[in-house]
Amino acid sequence: LPALPSRAAPRKVPFGAAIQSDLMNGDPAYRQLFVEHCDLVMPMNALKFDLLRPTREIWDFDPADKVVAFALEHGKTSRGTCHVWWGATPQWVKAIESPSEAERVLVEHIERVGDRYKGKLLGWDVVNEVVANDPIYENRSLRDTYWLRTLGPRHIPIAFKAAASADPSAQLALNDYDLEFKGPHYDERRTIVLSIVRQLQDANVKIDAVGLQGHLYADKEIDVDALDRFHRDLDALGVKLLVTELDVIDWKSPAGPHSQDRTAAALVTRFLDALFSFKPPELVISWGLTDRYSWVNDVMPRPDGAPSRPLPFDRKLRPKPWFELIENRL
Ligand code: XIL
Repeated sequence: LPALPSRAAPRKVPFGAAIQSDLMNGDPAYRQLFVEHCDLVMPMNALKFDLLRPTREIWDFDPADKVVAFALEHGKTSRGTCHVWWGATPQWVKAIESPSEAERVLVEHIERVGDRYKGKLLGWDVVNEVVANDPIYENRSLRDTYWLRTLGPRHIPIAFKAAASADPSAQLALNDYDLEFKGPHYDERRTIVLSIVRQLQDANVKIDAVGLQGHLYADKEIDVDALDRFHRDLDALGVKLLVTELDVIDWKSPAGPHSQDRTAAALVTRFLDALFSFKPPELVISWGLTDRYSWVNDVMPRPDGAPSRPLPFDRKLRPKPWFELIENRL
């Protein structure tokens, strides 16, 4: 594929990507890719609780500061992920048994971090992955986490209120995965998200957006009708829809760059078609930009050993069909 010309006109829907702050210095070409192709650049990991505050005494803002400054210097926006996530609760927090102490630590964390980046971030994923992984099988709505066990479901409004008080103009989102596929399990996950939104609103707690992570799978069917309905249901509640972590887990597609890329582009097309059929999402963010670095390589590698190709640019930083799609669509 030839190098892409720079865009003549701004996109109608902003396109962004998450960047790994620890790779920015060592790989200037990687960094440059974000400068050239993104409207938004956000830290992939640096704003997660365990990295910001690995111990009670240590706050480490440097990696996140670096990414946010980089984005703003280049005229881009940024956003934060995430205040509450089961995957980023530090050990010292998990050792806290007292609910009142846990609440104090959570609120203090969100207020301090929210305040530090006030005016610099479009918004935050306030809670990430709070919906039970398999609600029907597990017979529960919310994921069993430290925060749920210690504070109950109220940790969700507590987190949203703290985020709103720290940065009143930030767009506050609930972010989750597996919200686009076909089947009762996924219907249930969508229903739970809608019910969390309604409960927050009934309690007068501000929630502005739902983030669809958008980790698509070569072996999971996207439910176009259900996704369209979900988008409309959110809209009826006055809540925006964001795509926050788009990539393609291609461990079960036929091996080979051509077929993997064709599968990926078809999935991204179907996903965007379903979302756009009602109206464009607020923004589309991919979970990295290049196949050179992706959590998919580490967490869900192909069983046949072929390199995975989850992202819009290949390992040599050349655009793939799914990036052309972004360019044509957004
Ligand atoms: C992942 C990052 O990509 C990895 O670099 C990190 O080691 C773990 O987290 N869902 C999410 C993201 O909400 O925050 C996860 O990101 C990927 C799955």
